[in-house]
Amino acid sequence: MSVDAPVVVEVGLGDRTYDILIGSGLLSRAGAEISRRLPGTRAAVITDANVAAAHLDALKAGLETVGIQPAVITLPPGEKTKSFAHLEEVVDGVLAAKLERGDIVIAFGGGVIGDLAGFAAGIVRRGMNFVQIPTSLLAQVDSSVGGKTGINSARGKNLVGVFHQPKLVLADTGVLDTLPIREFRAGYAELAKYGLIDRPEFFAWLEENWAKVFAGGPERAQAIAEACRAKADVVARDEFETGDRALLNLGHTFGHALEAATRYDGARLVHGEGVAIGMALAYRFSSRLNLASPDDAARVEAHLRAVGLPWRIVDIPGDLPDAEALLAFITQDKKVSRGALTFILTRGVGQAFIAKDVPASEVLSFLKENHPSQQESRLGQQKMRPR
Ligand SMILES: NC(=O)c1ccc[n+]([C@@H]2O[C@H](COP(=O)([O-])OP(=O)(O)OC[C@H]3O[C@@H](n4cnc5c(N)ncnc54)[C@H](O)[C@@H]3O)[C@@H](O)[C@H]2O)c1
Repeated sequence: MSVDAPVVVEVGLGDRTYDILIGSGLLSRAGAEISRRLPGTRAAVITDANVAAAHLDALKAGLETVGIQPAVITLPPGEKTKSFAHLEEVVDGVLAAKLERGDIVIAFGGGVIGDLAGFAAGIVRRGMNFVQIPTSLLAQVDSSVGGKTGINSARGKNLVGVFHQPKLVLADTGVLDTLPIREFRAGYAELAKYGLIDRPEFFAWLEENWAKVFAGGPERAQAIAEACRAKADVVARDEFETGDRALLNLGHTFGHALEAATRYDGARLVHGEGVAIGMALAYRFSSRLNLASPDDAARVEAHLRAVGLPWRIVDIPGDLPDAEALLAFITQDKKVSRGALTFILTRGVGQAFIAKDVPASEVLSFLKENHPSQQESRLGQQKMRPR
């Protein structure tokens, strides 16, 4: 397999600084890259069944080049795996393999595996070495970088977890060739997010080049590297989200509520799709509050639609709870501070900001206007209107 010289992006965190390597063929040199930074260690690979079927042999071969023969824990794919039960399974598997604190937990999968394995690495023996080998686009551009780990609770997403930074991130862009197109699109939402937060030129570049990013040419690695730079910048500035790291939650408050409302049923809505709808709603809501122009909201919606992402609540198949219930999911979200609603809003493309004390009544009216029941009844009225 040909190995391109990878792009290296550094996440600057003092003595915990680490590299993100981005390029194709990186699985084959995983062992060499890991042992250069963490010599003489043993490892457990945490993965899911889809990723294991497509790529585990290649990773094992890459690790074998330096004599690492990992314990492998393979979990079912899907958001429901980010649970206490599977956390226990991973913790038990790592302990059963008799790994020590200085040994490595390798997360080999999408964001679900990264979040879960990272959490396990953060708590087993009070914190083990951790390496991320992200295999979904979403994980390569977002979740594998920055050290946020965790699982879901019945009360909401990502409510239980720790900050635990990896020692290395290896983003092999070649493994994305086996990613289902729907998952690729979902990851693309998080990629576009960086443009929408504060990189308007990147968003404009994506509007021009998105088809090449999907097709897998050099533009794909270029876009992933740009996203990693954006994420690394924010994480280095605000590791523990006491300030502007919260901007990365653009679209997530609405998105998480929609995910909870669909009970994390990936057949209806996967995380990145929730983020896509959430970003479109954040722009539309900002326009309703006279912060952003309706043209900006329309531009964002048009791009999400062009790449084939859902962008309205009505795009989610099946029934949803009413607007009040959606608001209740939002107020349960962890970005609610002492009852006040905090949202990431925007003054235009690439001009996101943290808005505290957003009135719940405004959110509720907005959700009512955008709720499928409302839109369907509007459609019904339009159909009944005489020409
Ligand atoms: N920690 C963070 O900072 C952060 C940031 C964003 C999202 N997240 C979390 O990430 C999760 C979503 O991540 P995701 O979208 O990667 O979901 P995922 O891990 O469920 O992966 C999506 C699907 O793609 C499959 N897959 C992954 N790589 C593949 C490959 N190369 N070939 C074939 N199939 C492959 C998986 O098996 C799964 O079915 C959510 O739980 C979200 O909360 C965390």
